[in-house]
Amino acid sequence: MPGLVAGKVALVTGAAAGIGRSSARVFAAEGARVVVSDTNAAGGRETVDMIREAGGEAVFIPCDISDEEQVAALVAGTVETYGGMHCAHNNAGLGHGQARVADIDRTGWDRTLAVNLTGGWLCMRHQLRHMASHGGGTVVVTSSATSLLGFPLTAGYAATKAGLNQLVRSAAAEYAESGVRVNAVLPGPIATDMVTRSIGDNPALKEQLDRSVPLGRIGRPEEVAEAAVWLCSDRSSFITGVALPVDGGQVLR
Ligand SMILES: NC(=O)c1ccc[n+]([C@@H]2O[C@H](COP(=O)([O-])OP(=O)(O)OC[C@H]3O[C@@H](n4cnc5c(N)ncnc54)[C@H](O)[C@@H]3O)[C@@H](O)[C@H]2O)c1
Repeated sequence: MPGLVAGKVALVTGAAAGIGRSSARVFAAEGARVVVSDTNAAGGRETVDMIREAGGEAVFIPCDISDEEQVAALVAGTVETYGGMHCAHNNAGLGHGQARVADIDRTGWDRTLAVNLTGGWLCMRHQLRHMASHGGGTVVVTSSATSLLGFPLTAGYAATKAGLNQLVRSAAAEYAESGVRVNAVLPGPIATDMVTRSIGDNPALKEQLDRSVPLGRIGRPEEVAEAAVWLCSDRSSFITGVALPVDGGQVLR
């Protein structure tokens, strides 16, 4: 049986680790040629090696998504390398560290906005321009379940993700007539370096995360990747503008 995204070209940002790496691997396993992108070149090349070892096709193109010149070069490089770009998973993101609203470090706040929200918009801007003028495509954004919750100590981060949800809705409404679908996945706590770093030596946070998920466990990166790739595939052809929690039910609490 052909893969879910056979014959398509997919771009994944933040693909040197975690959810992005899983997404790049699932895209490739499902038949796409994949551009792996990240600021972390060593990790990105490792992802490419994993895909090639499994028989898939991938290249690495470095990009800091908060820099528009680099984003423009990434989209142009994707199209140049594989002759098109049908799917984009805008996944790169970071947090500002655990702090109450009044105590968030200003530098961390600014960087979180610059990468998550402005960077997410820059990626979308260049992808939409290409897709709208080349017969359509699909964009999926990694938002976060925290964008729907009052989860403590992550306010700036959650605000950027709520901003992304709105950007997704607006883009979906504007670009539907051009054949572009735009959706978001909202992961709950997922076992990646980002969460391990936040937990650090704070077992209370780990316990809080476990308790926050009705399905009773933290998720795996590939569980988010599967949803993202499906939303980029023709199997979800009548879905646009949704913010899909992939969270073991966390937003129900
Ligand atoms: N892990 C979770 O529990 C969780 C939950 C909700 C949402 N998310 C979101 O999922 C996405 C992936 O997170 P993850 O958990 O895999 O984290 P991760 O830290 O393992 O991976 C994030 C990747 O993004 C890259 N990155 C950071 N800044 C970048 C920039 N300016 N330009 C390009 N790449 C950059 C990093 O180098 C890294 O490889 C993020 O957007 C994160 O906010 C994660």
